[in-house]
Amino acid sequence: MRPGVPLAVVLEVIVGCWGEDKNMRSIEFHNREKEIKEIKAILDTRPTLITFIYGPINSGKTELINHVIEELPEEYVVFYINLRTKLLVSYDDFIESLFEMEMESEGIKRKGKETLTELVSSVTKVAGIPINKEFLDYVFKDNKPKNAFSYIIKLFEEVKATGKQPVLILDELQKIGDVKVNGFLIYELFNFFIDLTKEKHLAHVFVATSDSLFIENIYSEAMLEGRCRYQLVDDFDEATTATFLEGHGFTDDEKALAWKYCGGKPVYLLELIRTDDRGREIERLLRMRAGELKTNLKTLKELGDKITVKKEHYNISYENIVCALKMFLDEEEIDMWSIDEISKHYLVRNNILFLDPDKGIIKPQSRLNLLAVREVIADV
Ligand SMILES: Nc1ncnc2c1ncn2[C@@H]1O[C@H](COP(=O)(O)OP(=O)(O)OP(=O)(O)O)[C@@H](O)[C@H]1O
Ligand SMILES: [Mg+2]
Repeated sequence: MRPGVPLAVVLEVIVGCWGEDKNMRSIEFHNREKEIKEIKAILDTRPTLITFIYGPINSGKTELINHVIEELPEEYVVFYINLRTKLLVSYDDFIESLFEMEMESEGIKRKGKETLTELVSSVTKVAGIPINKEFLDYVFKDNKPKNAFSYIIKLFEEVKATGKQPVLILDELQKIGDVKVNGFLIYELFNFFIDLTKEKHLAHVFVATSDSLFIENIYSEAMLEGRCRYQLVDDFDEATTATFLEGHGFTDDEKALAWKYCGGKPVYLLELIRTDDRGREIERLLRMRAGELKTNLKTLKELGDKITVKKEHYNISYENIVCALKMFLDEEEIDMWSIDEISKHYLVRNNILFLDPDKGIIKPQSRLNLLAVREVIADV
């Protein structure tokens, strides 16, 4: 770490996210029984595999993780790091995001805990990874990920020695992107996660992401084969959506209308719950989404666009994009191999489509997106 480099505090972000959520928290956490059961079953056994939590955007991945953490008994010590709001362009940025640190004008502020044991005893249920001055120097020495990782192992072993089970959760891991330390940081991290799970059985590791192209890369990553599992957190199904809305006073007609247009996307359902005129809100949401898509296609048609995939630049073909989207006129989801790679990358990156490599399918990011696609594509 360099003095003067702005240092975001992990805990601040977590508290920040929760602060934001609190305004919304008049709406209680709903259901997710199946996913919670699956995650708890993982936590009940010895750590062996890395778990990738994935799903369409705004499906409730982070909310589910926070809920599971809140419900966990004291014997689990959770280290939760959300990289969403981080600007991660260098290895230092990543390390700063990982460790719970505070920056003052003259340098790093000490946390007041000098030894590892003191740090461990002060660890609460949810935190970034705590560190003291002594280890900080070591972790930053020579820009070696190995230093950071061997410190974390040491810390986790201390936690385990107190009879507790460490759990490491990284939300939005794809944000480390192409950060390099000799090789790509992501590979160093995957090796570290494998060490924590399959090799040492020391900590449970969960990685959450809303980037389905990232998950696709992971899915075909040889080093992770047989070393990870996938946990899908999709939008609510119809029955779950119905009970959610019922709890907020929706009539049968309103429930049917909400499902028809918004499907089970929690974030849209929350919009409907908060509004007085549900029909108008649905109309507004669809108009907005269709408008965005129309503009997107018009710009592409008239100005063209490019995309970079694996460092190569490709031109986007308007005709191919239209052809890909037309497949959704009659289908809700399609085989993931039926769209050409460039169009697939473009449509997924623009949050129009969601790719599920585990199921081998591609579908619009939401029901609203599907309807917007159908509306717009019928006119071109
Ligand atoms: N089970 C649930 N019960 C009530 N509200 C929920 C539930 N799941 C998600 N929400 C609400 O929906 C919104 C989106 O959820 P969240 O941020 O967890 O989605 P996400 O999948 O993590 O999104 P992203 O793809 O951007 O990472 C939040 O406002 C959250 O409070
Ligand atoms: Mg999230």
